[in-house]
Amino acid sequence: MGRINIAIDGPSAAGKSTIAKMLGSRLNYIHLDSGAMYRCTAYKADQMGLDIEDEAAICKMLEDTSIVLTENGDVILDGTCVSKEIRTDAISQLASRVSKLEKVRADLVARQMEMAKDKGFIMDGRDIGTVVLKDAEVKVFLTATARARAMRRLKQNNDQQIATSDLETIEKEIEERDYRDTHRAASPLKKADDAVEIDSSNLCAEEVLDAIYALVLEKIQKEDF
Ligand code: DC
Repeated sequence: MGRINIAIDGPSAAGKSTIAKMLGSRLNYIHLDSGAMYRCTAYKADQMGLDIEDEAAICKMLEDTSIVLTENGDVILDGTCVSKEIRTDAISQLASRVSKLEKVRADLVARQMEMAKDKGFIMDGRDIGTVVLKDAEVKVFLTATARARAMRRLKQNNDQQIATSDLETIEKEIEERDYRDTHRAASPLKKADDAVEIDSSNLCAEEVLDAIYALVLEKIQKEDF
């Protein structure tokens, strides 16, 4: 069976990474979490004491920054595993702010295109179907209500023992990030014309996975990849 590329976009905490990881195991594809790269950028800029909206300083920092997404899902920043450190609510907010910067996006998008230049990748983010992998054979736009997403994020933080705010605060932060992600000038979050929208508010992870898996099989069989 031939291989394709799959783009999964959608707002914060809609379950993109969870689903992409599960789909990766089922198809034996590599999952690339593009948001982790914005998180690494925000994390390093914060550690260096840079102003998170200083585009020139952050681009300069990136010239000397290595971000590796490993096949088993670890995130390696300049040789150190930061998988857990980049998941805090504080870094979520900083990552959303840094992702507004056009030149920062250009740098990270180029890296993402290079990583997925062959087939057999599932990449999740905000602009994968519209910018990074415009030619992806399957594109999904995964949504859920802000409340449903906040509840999942709270559970994830607790399960992974990550310091967390309460439900109301998480929901408010998700709404703030939604606003920033959809209103920024550079590659705002939006559904690609050829993406299939799935609202996961009332679906469990397996149901979402099955729906996307069916789209993949249909594509592969129909087009004879
Ligand atoms: O998916 P995430 O929550 O880990 O992403 C962190 C931030 O990075 C999010 O606020 C938006 C931004 N992002 C983006 O602008 N483009 C992407 N392809 C992925 C993430």
